[in-house]
Amino acid sequence: MKVLFSALRRTCKAAGHLCRRSSHACGGLLPLPGEAIAGSSPELVRSLGSQVEVRTAFITEEEEAAFLQELEPVLKKKRYEFDHWDDAIHGYRETERLRWGPACEEILNRVRSVAFLDSGPLLGPVHVLDLDKAGYIKPHIDSVKFCGSTIAGLSLLSDSVMRLVKEDAPHEWLDLLLSRRSLYIMRDQARYDFTHEILRDEESVFSGTRVPRQRRISVICRNRPV
Ligand code: OGA
Ligand code: MN
Repeated sequence: MKVLFSALRRTCKAAGHLCRRSSHACGGLLPLPGEAIAGSSPELVRSLGSQVEVRTAFITEEEEAAFLQELEPVLKKKRYEFDHWDDAIHGYRETERLRWGPACEEILNRVRSVAFLDSGPLLGPVHVLDLDKAGYIKPHIDSVKFCGSTIAGLSLLSDSVMRLVKEDAPHEWLDLLLSRRSLYIMRDQARYDFTHEILRDEESVFSGTRVPRQRRISVICRNRPV
């Protein structure tokens, strides 16, 4: 299982951190109040608009609690992993789950019905990633060998910022404000041509506003590659 998840992610060191950070310092497109997507230009936000979605408040507090109740006993048995320098993720533990209780299954069916329209069969097990408060996800692209065109994730317990950077043009980027209990969907070009990452607490800023990071659990559905 562990092997599968590490194989799922390919770290991308080519897109330099410094260069990206300076392009962000230059500004970029400010989102309208209440919007969850900001980017390096209006054109990019428009052109990727159909491939990146953030649905805030996709689940209720009760539904979040249902996930925690089901996941905590399993996660608590594992230790956060911090010291694999070549890993795409720092400070995490993870699991996968095929069978869910009725409450979570119903929520996951809602996720599947909005995110995977004609996108073929899904990967059976749902991926659960628990990031420590000090944890973060480095820029990477999910393996095209193990996972298909669409990735949909629920965020539990914490707000966070997901950054997408075009692999061959790092000045093109999108920031997504993943509020607690939101759902994000990434598909096609956004999934294949852009790295994605979750910013560490010290760098967690969306459109000039600080977004404090707590422990965060994501519940991620993917489809199979064709
Ligand atoms: C991953 C990943 C994003 C998230 O596990 O490959 O990018 O929302 N996770 O946790
Ligand atoms: Mn990923």
